[in-house]
Formats: sequence, C-alpha cells, structure tokens
Amino acid sequence: MEKLENLDKIVNLCKGRGFIFQGSEIYGGMGNTWDYGPVGVELKNNIKKAWWKKFVQQSENSFGVDAAILMNSRVWDASGHTASFSDPKMDCRNCKTRHRADNLIEDYNKKHDIEMAVDAMSKEEMQNYIVEHQIKCPNCGKCDFTEIKNFNLMFSTKRGVTDDSQDVIYLRPETAQGEFVNFLNVQRTTRAKVPFGIAQIGKAFRNEITPGNFIFRTIEFEQMEHQFFCKEDDGEKFYKEFKQKAWDFAKSVGLNPEHLRFKDHDKLAHYAKAACDIQYLFPMGWSELNGIHNRSAWDLSRHQEYSGKNMQYLDPITNERYIPNVIEYSIGCDRLVLAVLCEAYDEEQLEDGETRIVMHFVPHIAPYKVAVLPLQKNLSEKAKEVYKDLQKNFMATYDEAGSIGKRYRRQDEIGTPFCVTIDFDTIENNTVTVRDRDTMKQDRVKIDDLEKYLIDNIK
Ligand code: GAP
Repeated sequence: MEKLENLDKIVNLCKGRGFIFQGSEIYGGMGNTWDYGPVGVELKNNIKKAWWKKFVQQSENSFGVDAAILMNSRVWDASGHTASFSDPKMDCRNCKTRHRADNLIEDYNKKHDIEMAVDAMSKEEMQNYIVEHQIKCPNCGKCDFTEIKNFNLMFSTKRGVTDDSQDVIYLRPETAQGEFVNFLNVQRTTRAKVPFGIAQIGKAFRNEITPGNFIFRTIEFEQMEHQFFCKEDDGEKFYKEFKQKAWDFAKSVGLNPEHLRFKDHDKLAHYAKAACDIQYLFPMGWSELNGIHNRSAWDLSRHQEYSGKNMQYLDPITNERYIPNVIEYSIGCDRLVLAVLCEAYDEEQLEDGETRIVMHFVPHIAPYKVAVLPLQKNLSEKAKEVYKDLQKNFMATYDEAGSIGKRYRRQDEIGTPFCVTIDFDTIENNTVTVRDRDTMKQDRVKIDDLEKYLIDNIK
C-alpha cells in the first residue's frame, strides 16, 4: 500500500476513473453529497454483496429486511433520537462557521499526539479545554467561539395534505430501528428461535455539522447493520463472536490487519454493557470504521413501552418469556469503500522509469473482473465474441481505444484483476493471453478454458 498523506490522490482517481463524483456537480455541487459512477457502483455493490453473504446467506440464523426510510415518529422517541441524538456544536464568532467541539478537540489532540477520551467529556469540559489550549477555528484561525449547544442531527420533513395538518417526520438516521420494529414479524414468519439475527442494508441521513474527508462522513450514507437477539446470559459470548466476525469481514474485503485495531468506548450509554469500534488507519489517522455494541434489552424494551406491543419472546422449550438482549454490529458502507480504496491504492515504479497506479482490490470486490482488449482494431470482431461470452458470467469491460500499454494502465487504475488480450495467434489457435494485474505476468490460455481459469483465480 502506498502511504497516502491525505485523500487528494484518492479523490482525483475516483473522479477521473468513474468511481465517485461530486453530487449535483453541474450545479456547482451540493456540499458533502457524492454520486457513485459506473466503476464505483460496482465496487460498492460487491462490498454489499460480500457483507450480505457473510451476515445473512452464510449465517444459519440471520434474516434480511428492507424497511421503509420514513418511520412513525414515535420510533425516534422510543429510540432516544428525538431527545438526544445530537452533536455539541459551536459557532465561530469571527467567521460564522459552525463546528463540532469534540471534532475540534480530536483534531487538535491528533496533531499534538495527545491520547484522550473526548467522547467522555462533558460540554463544560470541552468548552474549557478549547479555551485553555486556544484551539483555533479551522476556517479563520481565531479562537472565539460561542457556547456549546446540542444540535439534533435528524433531518426532518413534513407529511400531510394541507399546510396545517402536517406532521413532522424524519429521514431515518440509522437503519437499526427497521430491524427492531420488525423483530416480531421476522420471528413469527421465519419461526426463528432466539438466538437469531436481523440484517439490513440501506440509506441513513444525518445533518452532520462538520461533514468531510470525502465519503468518510457525509449527510447521506448507507449502513450495513446486523442486530443479534439473544438471552442476557449469552450476551458476552455473542459480543465476542461479532467482534471476531466484524474483524474477519474487514480482512476479507482486503483491509490489512496491521491497519485495523479495536478501540473500546471510553464512555458507555447507560443501557450498554459493552461497546467498541474497529478503527482503520485512514490517511487522516486512526478513525472509526464500524461499531459493535452489547445493547442489553434496551431497544426492544423501549419499543414495548412506546408502542404498547408485547416484545417478549416465548422460549418453546423452557416456556420462559423474556425480552431478548441485542448485540449490534454496524458499519457504514461508504466508509468501508473509502478504506478499501485507500488500502488498494499503490504507485509502482516500473523498470522503464514510469510510475503505474494500480488498485490492488481483492478480486471478488474488484469492479470489473476482466477486460477484453483486442491488440489491434482489426481483431475486434473476435474480441467482441469473447467479451460477449464472458459477460454472461462476469462483470467484464471492453476497450479498443489507444495503445495496449495505455489500456493496461486504465484497467490497473480501476483494479481489474485480469486483462484478456486478443492477438493474431487467437485467430490461428483460439488462445488468448491473460495478464495478471498485480504481477503483470501473462499466461496463454485456450478460449475454451478461459472461464474456468478466471473462476479459479477470482477468490
Ligand atoms: N445503529 C448504530 C449506529 O448507527 P453509529 O456509530 O452512529 O451507530 C454506525 O454508526 C456506522 O455508520 C459508523 O461506524 C460509520 O461506519 C457509519 N457512519 C455513521 N455516521 C456516518 C456519516 N455521517 N457518514 C458516513 N458513515 C457514517
């Protein structure tokens, strides 16, 4: 992995090669919204597929849902979001920009190598710390802030046919509640026995005061969340199990374990029994990738209290009735895409003095698995035949523009693991060369064996 000093090279590559574009770009953009392009959407879909495979398909006892983004507002009262889903915000009196006090302190501490539990600080402690250390506004350099106030992060909107009959509703700030409110439905229809899990992938929205770092923190993002319902006594065991599963998953999409670490939360919510993050070493430093949480029986108890529905589970063997505890695993898909992009990025010095940029994605995550390249345009008929065949089973791309060297570079930059070149021998003996992205070595393979060759090498 090339050591990246910041995200500039990643942002440029993403824009130039069709991974990710600025949202609403032709209108000058819309702050911190991003659109996935033709290459990026494949990468993101592959990551979602890999997650679903591990946490639903290959789990004996997990089931998926796809719940509505707009939920009854009482859900957010029950979950605690209406009352306390907020960030400590302060405004710069000089330049009028808005900031998160905890982020200002974290950035200052990172720069000065200070290890400190910022999430355990009270508003007063943060205010004093900022004044004491003369932490400056990142926009204008002055240290002159207003008092810290809590700022609710939920985006609200209204529904109703007439202006005066409009109810406030919210864009969900997390997907988790869609899993909790469907606990009874999923249990009843699958006849699942506790312990079992509910998984969901979907959009979440947060009115982040200080979004930034490309797709690391945005106002609209996708979460991949899994709630595992278990008996209270088994909570610790499954918490450990999900820590391991989350770690294994991060490795399976190509993240180097040396760039991953667990970080226990310094401050636990009153209901939580344990909580930790997996952090990734992003160019801007160690930052949260995902969270794992032993949330006790709090979520289902609150929904029982607010909805009036009995959320108890009846154990068919012991006849015991109880509200299950929850082990939550939650990861931002876009944040994981960013980690995967940073990990894969490499600049290699070649013998001829040139530099090649190559994205070393693990093949099952790579946007395209194979590119078909005719050596010359007059070989395109045969090349298209091979391409059409490969498209049936692989995400494949075709390129006949420019020198073969340039075309290889383009594929390296989007991380295509294999390039199949059609040359004059292909016409003679029905063989092609297959170039490996990482080693640049070429194998001669019969067209009839090509599919098997690719399957064997795409793990
Ligand atoms: N249901 C639990 C929950 O939502 P969280 O720590 O607030 O917990 C979980 O979010 C994950 O979602 C984070 O670890 C991160 O990967 C991702 N995430 C949170 N806020 C985000 C944002 N503004 N932009 C991108 N990803 C975000």
